Amino acid sequence: MKILVVEDEPRVRDSLVELVEELGYVAFAAGSVADARDALSRAAPDVCITDLGLPDGSGLDVVRAAKAARPDCAVLVLTGKGSILAAVEAMRAGAHDFLLKPLKPALLASSLARLAEHWAPHPAARPEPAAPGRLGEMVGRSPAMREVFRLIARVAGSEAPVMITGESGTGKEVAARTVHALSRRAKGPFVAVNCGAISPHLVESELFGHEKGSFTGAERRRAGTFEMAHGGTLFLDEVTEMPPDLQVKFLRVLDTRAFRRVGGNEELDVDVRLVASSNRDLAEAVKNGSFRSDLFYRLNVFPLWMPPLRLRKEDIPALASHFLSQVEEKERRGFTALSDGALNVLGRYDWPGNVRELKNAVHRAYVLSDPPTVPPEVVEAVLGAPHAAGPAPAAGANEDAWPSVPVRVGEKLEAVERKLLIATLQAVNGDRRTAAEILGISLKTVYNRLKQYDLDHPALPGGRPRGS
Ligand SMILES: Nc1ncnc2c1ncn2[C@@H]1O[C@H](COP(=O)(O)OP(=O)(O)OP(=O)(O)O)[C@@H](O)[C@H]1O
Ligand SMILES: [Mg+2]
Repeated sequence: MKILVVEDEPRVRDSLVELVEELGYVAFAAGSVADARDALSRAAPDVCITDLGLPDGSGLDVVRAAKAARPDCAVLVLTGKGSILAAVEAMRAGAHDFLLKPLKPALLASSLARLAEHWAPHPAARPEPAAPGRLGEMVGRSPAMREVFRLIARVAGSEAPVMITGESGTGKEVAARTVHALSRRAKGPFVAVNCGAISPHLVESELFGHEKGSFTGAERRRAGTFEMAHGGTLFLDEVTEMPPDLQVKFLRVLDTRAFRRVGGNEELDVDVRLVASSNRDLAEAVKNGSFRSDLFYRLNVFPLWMPPLRLRKEDIPALASHFLSQVEEKERRGFTALSDGALNVLGRYDWPGNVRELKNAVHRAYVLSDPPTVPPEVVEAVLGAPHAAGPAPAAGANEDAWPSVPVRVGEKLEAVERKLLIATLQAVNGDRRTAAEILGISLKTVYNRLKQYDLDHPALPGGRPRGS
C-alpha cells in the first residue's frame, strides 16, 4: 500500500513517514497543498494522511484533490481536539476517517491495517443494485427510497458515522443494518444498543464491560458493547435518549478511541463504525440542551432521513407483497398475492405507524383471510374502518397541526422544494389548488414543479388514477 503523508511541520512529518515505513508501507511526503497535488498525480497513493492546516490552503483541498485523482483513495485527516468540526467537514468532502492529534501509533497502525485488509470495497456497495427496488433487505421503488438507497450505497463504503432520523417505524434500524451489510465491516459484528434503555447504574459495565470481581455480582469478566462491536458497527438506537453523563463518557471514548473495562487497567482500542438513530428532532434536542452539541457533530457526519410511508405511497404494493411472502414463507398456507382491491385500500390509508404498521396489518390480514388472496374487506376490517381521505382543509386552516419537513444544511434547494411540495400536497389530500395557495405560487407552477420533479404519479393523492 502506497501512503502519502501531507503535513507542514517537518518534525511531525518525518516521524509520521518513519512510522508508516516501520509498519511496512511505502511512504511519500508533502508539506503543502501544492506538493500534495503533485505527489497525488505522480504516485497515485492508495491512502493519503493529511493535516488540516497547511501553509497554502486547507486539508480539505487535499481531500478533494485525492478523491479527484483517484476516487478509491482513502483519506485520513489529522485533527486537534479543537477542530472536530473541521474534521467532520473533511469527512463530508470524502475523507475516510479522522485521527486525533497527538497521534497514537497503535491507532494509526490499526487504521492502516484495516484499510490494507479490506482494500476492495464490498461488491454490493457499488451503485446499481442487482435487483431494482431493493437494497439488501430493504424494499422500495419510490423516488424518495431510491434516493435513500443511493445514499446508503454511497456512505456504506466509508467509515463516516451515519445519523438516521425518521418517524417511528420508517425503517431506521433496517437502514442501519444495510449500511453495515454493505460496508467493509460486513463480516464483523453489528451490535445495537438502545440508548434510552440502559439502566443508569449498569451503564459503565454495559458499554465497557468489567473485570471479574470489580463489583458485587461481577462473577466473571464480561465484554461490554464497545468490545463486542470491535471490528464491526455499533448502532446507537434512540441516541437522543442517552442520559447526559453517558453522553460525556461516550464522547471521551470517541475522542481517545480507547477505554478500560470497569475494574481493569488495560487500555483497549475501539475500532467501531458508528451509526445512530433518532425519531426526535435533533436540532431541537441540541437547542434545548438535552443532547450535547459536540456529540451531535461527531455523530451527524452523514445524515440520512427516512421519509414517512405516507410520503412514498408508491412503495406500499412492493412492501405489502414482500411482507406477505415473508409470512407465507413461514406459514405455507398457499397465499399468492394481495388482491388489487386490498392494495387499493392499503394505498388510501395514512400509515401513522409507517412501515411497521403496514407489516403488522399485512400479517393480521393474512391470518384473517383464506388462501390464495387477501380480499379488500379484510384489509378494511384490519385498518379499523373503510378509509377515505377526508375533505381537504382550506388554506390557512389549523396550520399548527400541519406536519413539518426536516431540512438540513447541505441539501440542494431543489430537494427542499420537492420535499415541501410533497408534504404540502399530502396535507391537503392532493388538492393542487389549495397547495398552490399555501405555497404562495400559481397553480400552473405547481403543475410545472410536479412534472419537473417527476411527481405526477398515481401514488400522490390526486395524481393520475391507479391503473386498474
Ligand atoms: N424499506 C423496507 N423494506 C423492508 N422492510 C422494512 C422497510 N422499512 C422497514 N421495514 C420493516 O419494518 C419494521 C420496522 O422497521 P425498523 O424497526 O427499522 O423501524 P424504526 O424506524 O427503527 O422504528 P422505531 O423508530 O420505532 O424504532 C421492521 O420489521 C423492518 O424490517
Ligand atoms: Mg428502531
